[in-house]
Amino acid sequence: MNRRAIVAANWKMNGSLALVNSMASELSKVSLNENVEVVVCPSFPYLAAFSFASSKANLASTFSLGAQNLSEHAKGAFTGEVSTSMLQEVGVSYVIVGHSERRSIYKESSSLVAEKVQAALAAGLKPILCVGESEEQRVSEQTELVLAAQLQPVIDKIGIEKFVDVVVAYEPVWAIGTGKTASPEMAQTTHQFIREFIAKIDENVAVKMPLLYGGSVNATNCEELFAQADIDGGLIGGASLKAEEFKIICSAAKGK
Ligand code: 13P
Repeated sequence: MNRRAIVAANWKMNGSLALVNSMASELSKVSLNENVEVVVCPSFPYLAAFSFASSKANLASTFSLGAQNLSEHAKGAFTGEVSTSMLQEVGVSYVIVGHSERRSIYKESSSLVAEKVQAALAAGLKPILCVGESEEQRVSEQTELVLAAQLQPVIDKIGIEKFVDVVVAYEPVWAIGTGKTASPEMAQTTHQFIREFIAKIDENVAVKMPLLYGGSVNATNCEELFAQADIDGGLIGGASLKAEEFKIICSAAKGK
């Protein structure tokens, strides 16, 4: 197998110019395993600054810049929105789409998420598509149904052959920012379900698709999580704001 691992930092609405500069310089000291990519996703106002700071710190090409959201529209009268071409102009190559906070707080539906994935791919950006169930859905054994309902509209919209360029991040909502990580076994079982769901449509795509785990990943639990057969890295929130901890997480990832 030759599946790359990805560790992506989702800063959410946190950070500052000072963090942009210190993180870029700290990341230049990390040694990554082969076939590992690190993606840093700060808020929109810091994207250009991170691009600049990465060149100044001489960050290797294994480090990429990501945005946390994008508009499904190309341009026009959409106050407050940010287009794919704007993101690309400031050096962005990845974009998080359908994060549970966007789905729940900003009411993004799975069909809007699918449109955003399509817009990202059409522009040549790599979408990190987030899926995940709530605690209530897990307790009532709806997890697989919920994940299927989040994945299918994207597959229907873009076609399975384009799914090869999508990174999927499984983030159980109950594990986000709560310190309640899914156990490595539970995370693996759900990742395996997602890969098999895709494999039923196209085995080749499923084998290549990087599948990340997110939800209270930290320097202590990352190794065991990343060792699972279907976990190819992580989408990291809180721990990605602390350079020392984030560096440990980056070094723990290995391609499979
Ligand atoms: P935490 O790592 O803070 O739980 O956040 C996970 C997340 O939502 C990343 O997108």
